[in-house]
Amino acid sequence: MVSENKVAIITGSARGIGKGCALALAEAGYNILIHDYIDDASIQKAKETVEEIKKLGVDAINFNCDIADLSKHKELFQVALDRWGRVDCLVSNAGVSVMHRGDILDVTTESFDRCLKVNTRATFFLLQECAKVFMAQPKTDAKRTIVVISSSNAEMVSIDRSEYCVSKRANSMVARLFALRLIKEGVAVYEIRPGLIMTEMTAPSKAKYDKLIAEGMVPEGRWGYPKDIGITVRAMAEGLLPYTCALAVPIDGGMSLPNY
Ligand code: NAI
Repeated sequence: MVSENKVAIITGSARGIGKGCALALAEAGYNILIHDYIDDASIQKAKETVEEIKKLGVDAINFNCDIADLSKHKELFQVALDRWGRVDCLVSNAGVSVMHRGDILDVTTESFDRCLKVNTRATFFLLQECAKVFMAQPKTDAKRTIVVISSSNAEMVSIDRSEYCVSKRANSMVARLFALRLIKEGVAVYEIRPGLIMTEMTAPSKAKYDKLIAEGMVPEGRWGYPKDIGITVRAMAEGLLPYTCALAVPIDGGMSLPNY
């Protein structure tokens, strides 16, 4: 049986930006697959997020795997197909920061490889698998959607986390490549470039960024929140940006706008 509700899969959605996207899509009536990492804390958080989403009146389940383990990607989609018979939206959000911030001259191969493996390689093959799943489903009037969460570092240079910048710049190209390949298949691919969003990823640098925001680094004068990203993801999934392809949307309170 095919669910009447549309279905969204959001990677890395037990917490943070991914959870913000999941809540926004659930509020729009989507059934949600919450995906996250395989450690006990992430599984527990994923289950709690599932319960929170069910309270919004839609169905939700969790599936945990290391997104860098490409052999799990098929199963990720299959779990949603088995439960609901359809997938309409993928948000590729799971990502990691650097192992240590510091000089580009000190970047380790370990941290470089981890950024590329999780942020770029996994995204590329996840989109490839998603494309196959979408193309195997009957075409609908509504576009199916893929949203890649990259970063303001797809454009802006931060030399204290250079390997992350490299991975996110590449992440952006992954979105562009699949956008062009899939547009004729009725699939819209977008990219979102978050700026400073208050999550566990940015928590270690909170004091530093509180000060920089107060000094004017973010023209809007505040941190971003996962909800800010969720609202745009929802608009993308709902087809509110017609005749666009590979649109990359900065959600950063104006931080990336060149100015003087
Ligand atoms: P977060 O660290 O709070 O959440 C990331 C989630 O992804 C976590 O639940 C984590 O367990 C999961 N995850 C990480 N690696 C995984 C893997 N290998 N397999 C499965 N799950 C994995 O981070 P946040 O801030 O919510 O970031 C989400 C995305 O947004 C990331 O791609 C990040 O690079 C990007 N981003 C975040 C910004 C921010 O200011 N918070 C700014 C720009 C981009």
